[in-house]
Amino acid sequence: AQTVGRDEDGVVTVGGIDVKTLAEEHGTPAYVVDEADFRARARAWRGAFGADADVFYAGKAFLSRAVVRWLHEEGLNLDVCSGGELATALSAGMPADRIAFHGNNKSSEEITRAIENGVGRIVLDSFQEIVRVAHIAQSLGKRQRVQIRVTVGVEAHTHEFIATAHEDQKFGIPLAGGQAAEAVRRALKLDGLELIGIHSHIGSQIFDMSGFEVAAHRVVGLLKDVRDEHGVELPEIDLGGGLGIAYTSDDDPREPHEIAKALTEIVTRECEAARLRTPRISVEPGRAIVGPTAFTLYEVGTIKPLDGLRTYVSVDGGMSDNIRTALYDAEYTVALVSRTSDAQPMLARVVGKHCESGDIVVKDAFLPADLAPGDLIAVPATGAYCRSMASNYNHVLRPPVVSVHEGESRVIVRRETEEDLLRLDVG
Ligand code: LLP
Repeated sequence: AQTVGRDEDGVVTVGGIDVKTLAEEHGTPAYVVDEADFRARARAWRGAFGADADVFYAGKAFLSRAVVRWLHEEGLNLDVCSGGELATALSAGMPADRIAFHGNNKSSEEITRAIENGVGRIVLDSFQEIVRVAHIAQSLGKRQRVQIRVTVGVEAHTHEFIATAHEDQKFGIPLAGGQAAEAVRRALKLDGLELIGIHSHIGSQIFDMSGFEVAAHRVVGLLKDVRDEHGVELPEIDLGGGLGIAYTSDDDPREPHEIAKALTEIVTRECEAARLRTPRISVEPGRAIVGPTAFTLYEVGTIKPLDGLRTYVSVDGGMSDNIRTALYDAEYTVALVSRTSDAQPMLARVVGKHCESGDIVVKDAFLPADLAPGDLIAVPATGAYCRSMASNYNHVLRPPVVSVHEGESRVIVRRETEEDLLRLDVG
């Protein structure tokens, strides 16, 4: 979050409110999102790409109705990947023509709902889906704007590169062996479809632009083949999301304007070389917008020093509110936020309350040796893929999302209750 500081008592404040007040009002654990920071990042992406490009926020990173309204007000579009995300977007008033619908296994019901509501584009992910979407659109008397998602064959070599563009995986249609060209051929023949472009998403938490360079080169190669074969210049190219954020001080993310400049230059250069009109570019950042804008506020519970090893610090949440450490070996930092301390740092591991030894929130951290039950600690950069991947494991209740702005806090997703849990259990 951008508006973080400490008050005269050493208590951390965000958006003009101190964390002790937040914990009293909303309880812990809680995700605290800085609305001004979210809006600033959304605006920075929007501004960096300008009027000739579109920014689709990837809702899978974190979606709620308040977030949809912020995005709408800041002029961003929205990428959804399920009926649930679509319902959230529509219910918060995102105009359907600014929504893109993704997914490798959209149901016929989801496709029907998307088309009936008039979504701006559906991203086709397989040969079967090309036919399915065309058929549904036609039966509704519509012509649906679509992109075809291709896998460009970029290999993932670094661990930052949670790759999705190599060919041996479930997403997209490979460029290899003329498969993507065949998909274009079929899509162009179907009356229910208006093929507007090609889509590529190469992976997540990426710092190095070279993967995008290869992807753009290969996608433009396909656009050129399409022009040569069909005499059609497809007007759009979407390069997906995946730009990395700083989880620890080792990570060095690029600014939106640098990314926009690099991507625009790559596409323009490739198109000039192929003598194509430069298509309208779109991108789909999720993590880069919401990730840094929130932290998770926990209360310290049991503290267990293990001689010669480390001290286990248990918090009142864990893998149910942040699965990323257990799932990806993700690295986070943590800080004591309810007071300052001059005590020596101790090697700590922040763990949750779940019945699983892999229930780790922060694997290696230094916290002051006088840490005590009741202290508040915060884990930054939990805005993306934490609440959206949260579970009820052990029937632990999912935390609320609290937004802070100019000295006020507001619950945007309320804390789950035992009633919520029991409502689903109809046995
Ligand atoms: N567009 C498409 C088609 C995607 O599949 C994704 C992410 C994005 C955009 C947004 O990517 P971002 O800018 O947020 O990196 N759960 C994992 C990340 C999975 C990403 C899936 N797709 C994690 O926690 O790291």
